[in-house]
Amino acid sequence: MNQNTPLIELTLVSKDYGSGKLTVRAVNQVSLKVMPGEMVLLSGPSGSGKTTLLSIVGTLLRPTSGTLFMAGKDMAALSLKELAEMRLRTFGFIFQDSNLISSLTAFENVKLVMELAHANTEVVSRRATELLTRFHLGHRVNNPPSQMSIGERQRVAIARALANNPKLILADEPTGSLDSKTGREVMLELKELTRSEGRGVLVASHDVRLFSTADRILWMEDGRVESKRANELLT
Ligand SMILES: Nc1ncnc2c1ncn2[C@@H]1O[C@H](COP(=O)(O)OP(=O)(O)O)[C@@H](O)[C@H]1O
Ligand SMILES: [Mg+2]
Repeated sequence: MNQNTPLIELTLVSKDYGSGKLTVRAVNQVSLKVMPGEMVLLSGPSGSGKTTLLSIVGTLLRPTSGTLFMAGKDMAALSLKELAEMRLRTFGFIFQDSNLISSLTAFENVKLVMELAHANTEVVSRRATELLTRFHLGHRVNNPPSQMSIGERQRVAIARALANNPKLILADEPTGSLDSKTGREVMLELKELTRSEGRGVLVASHDVRLFSTADRILWMEDGRVESKRANELLT
């Protein structure tokens, strides 16, 4: 894959929930691209389809129609096993609530995803330490999530999302449970990751205070991505 291959390329993607008269079209004919080195913010009101769209991109949900190419690969052509590998090695996921495993320490939480990818034990420990240090969590390595602040937990979640060196980071309302200062810090950390290592980052957030941290904003409303609105928002 070269730098001109989009990390995400959706073409006319739709997603319906339910069937018959009760069908809800959560995503309606969305086409979009995210290139390496780009941080894109997907914004819009609650219920506009952001989480559904992000779940499709993360291959957690199959679209009803349309095509999804990730890093140049057609996701419809992959087996379930290949999709699971893709999620483990190519994507890093960050959620609103850090979703750490409560019985494991920060160190163990970060190591786990690398162990699942069958990385060498020594490499796993070294990288987990490096990542936690980089996110100023050196003093929290041996603490479980219950002994950390919400901001610290979210930084552990970012460290975990990076553990397998993913090409793409997908974050759903990553600042939703943070105060605005910590939220901004988390976004700037995500931006730094985009810049320094040529990753792609797609963040879904209804928090308009984060607009200034993104390279590009996509505005969603009623399942549609309205680029016109997005352009207006940027100026
Ligand atoms: N599992 C589901 N089953 C049925 N409807 C759903 C489901 N998930 C989301 N929806 C509906 O799809 C629409 C988009 O929801 P969502 O993607 O969660 O939006 P957002 O993340 O922007 O708040 C909403 O109308 C929501 O009620
Ligand atoms: Mg949502």
